[in-house]
Amino acid sequence: MGAIIYLLILALLKDYGHGEPQEGIAVYVFLGLLTSGATQQCLDIDECVESPDICGNWGTCRNTGCSYMCLCPNGFRNSGDRQTSCVEKDKCVESPDICGKWGTCLNQVGSYMCQCPNGFRNSGDRQTSCVDIDECNTDGVCGKRGICQNLIGSYWCECPAGFTNFGKNQNKCVELNCDQYETQPGQTLPGFDSFLSLLRNNCLVLNNSTLSGPTRPLPTGDVLLTLLVNTTDVLQLDLQSNGHRSSSEVTKLLKTIEISIRLIAPLLTENVTRIETNHTDVEILVRRDKTPPKGPVSLTNENTQLDTTWETVIGDYQNYQGFAFVVLLSYKNLDSLKDTTSRQNLQLMSSALTVSVSNSNTTNLPQLINLTFNHLQSSDVDPTCVYWSDENGPGVWSELGCTSVMSNSNQTVCSCSHLSTFALLKGIHQKKGTGQLSLVMWGGVFVALTCVVLSLITTLWCRFVSRKRRGGNRLKQDVQLHRK
Ligand SMILES: *[C@@H]1O[C@H](CO)[C@@H](O)[C@H](O)[C@H]1NC(C)=O
Ligand SMILES: *[C@@H]1O[C@H](CO)[C@@H](O)[C@H](O)[C@H]1NC(C)=O
Ligand SMILES: *[C@@H]1O[C@H](CO)[C@@H](O)[C@H](O)[C@H]1NC(C)=O
Ligand SMILES: *[C@@H]1O[C@H](CO)[C@@H](O)[C@H](O)[C@H]1NC(C)=O
Ligand SMILES: *[C@@H]1O[C@H](CO)[C@@H](O)[C@H](O)[C@H]1NC(C)=O
Ligand SMILES: *[C@@H]1O[C@H](CO)[C@@H](O)[C@H](O)[C@H]1NC(C)=O
Ligand SMILES: *[C@@H]1O[C@H](CO)[C@@H](O)[C@H](O)[C@H]1NC(C)=O
Ligand SMILES: *[C@@H]1O[C@H](CO)[C@@H](O)[C@H](O)[C@H]1NC(C)=O
Repeated sequence: MGAIIYLLILALLKDYGHGEPQEGIAVYVFLGLLTSGATQQCLDIDECVESPDICGNWGTCRNTGCSYMCLCPNGFRNSGDRQTSCVEKDKCVESPDICGKWGTCLNQVGSYMCQCPNGFRNSGDRQTSCVDIDECNTDGVCGKRGICQNLIGSYWCECPAGFTNFGKNQNKCVELNCDQYETQPGQTLPGFDSFLSLLRNNCLVLNNSTLSGPTRPLPTGDVLLTLLVNTTDVLQLDLQSNGHRSSSEVTKLLKTIEISIRLIAPLLTENVTRIETNHTDVEILVRRDKTPPKGPVSLTNENTQLDTTWETVIGDYQNYQGFAFVVLLSYKNLDSLKDTTSRQNLQLMSSALTVSVSNSNTTNLPQLINLTFNHLQSSDVDPTCVYWSDENGPGVWSELGCTSVMSNSNQTVCSCSHLSTFALLKGIHQKKGTGQLSLVMWGGVFVALTCVVLSLITTLWCRFVSRKRRGGNRLKQDVQLHRK
């Protein structure tokens, strides 16, 4: 615009003047026009009134002769020169080290705060720099025997020999018992020798991995679980084809599975692991939260549903090791399992199933667990909720601590106050457990035997007395006669 006016003036001067165009005059005229225009504007316009928002939300506009400026309150500054709107002063930009080496500065309206990463805390209030938390100052962070080592922003647990945290450096150290996986000739279940030796070897690797983590790569739980299921399948097939096994063998199987799962579950990598075969269906839920999980938890398979809570799964929160697991294992072909100490023909109305959790104190649960069994065949017989009890003898189905809370022809819900291996039985209606039933039986046998022995003694004594009266010579003949 200015250039066009300048050229116009130049042209005018050229037309009216004679000779050379007088550029100097043009410049003066142009500047004069411009100055008089500006002076007129300066008189006419108060920017602060014309555009009230000219200084933004926070600024105060002040008109200054020919111009204006924005005044900013404390904690604010002009976004550009004096005529720009007011923006907050960014403390985080002004003092980059305000939150220390580890903190992240967050700008807030007229203020700021220091956000600390995991493992750090503010040294004072929210505006102070971040410092390392010494996790080792908390009691029992590594368990009773673990040795806590603080790191900047972190820590790890050193487990002494005989203890492990299953390769999870921040978990508590728990005691290992590798001897329970020892195989004994004639004692170990058929087919379980090689599986148990493998478990024992893995247990020993964990036992040895004390200082700088495991010496050898840890086995994955999935491989071990697959092997356990395969081995269990073979045994169940064997049970099916060879007829009934003794109660003590069933007890041994269930115990072996329980101790195996206690080593395998902490080595699983997934949150949910499920393996189903023709004979076995196992599902394991693992949680590795820093704080113990809470609330209901349920596991479902084809034939059963387990309802419990994480509180039951974990037990005493003091003992929370940094992980929790719950296992539901169904034996599809243990239905041929009979109670050998009872003459009753006990038949399972459901598949048998083992429930196991990370809490090992499960003989008297404060909160009942609920098991919903689908009947193998729909039946109007009243089923009995039972568990496999091996407390007094080789093992029997017992009703203690389990009650049926709902039952129709297809389903029964059992509530139990302990964990173990459970099933539904058809055929017992006594209120007393089968354990007591076999006790009564043995009592009967004892009384009968006592009577036989007593009558024998009486007979012999009578004969002896009568012979003594008749004379000692005939005793020899009698004895010889009896020997014939
Ligand atoms: C674990 O290792 C320690 C030392 O290496 C040893 O004394 C202890 O017997 C081992 N425990 C088992 C169950 O093997
Ligand atoms: C455990 O460590 C000891 C030495 O500390 C070693 O002799 C032994 O072979 C190791 N055992 C296993 C199963 O790695
Ligand atoms: C388990 O058994 C199945 C079939 O019998 C087989 O395919 C699988 O390889 C076995 N798994 C292991 C780990 O032996
Ligand atoms: C599972 O059962 C089905 C049908 O009964 C059979 O065809 C299959 O071979 C079985 N699988 C194994 C691994 O035994
Ligand atoms: C496993 O569970 C944790 C919560 O305990 C969750 O944060 C994580 O995303 C889950 N992982 C998978 C693969 O689902
Ligand atoms: C089990 O069932 C009983 C009654 O049916 C109920 O009171 C209890 O809360 C249930 N427990 C769980 C863990 O769902
Ligand atoms: C086992 O649990 C019961 C009930 O929750 C509790 O009273 C008992 O003290 C626990 N026992 C141990 C050894 O922790
Ligand atoms: C049991 O199951 C059968 C077939 O699945 C169904 O017709 C019947 O209604 C069920 N009974 C109950 C009490 O749910």
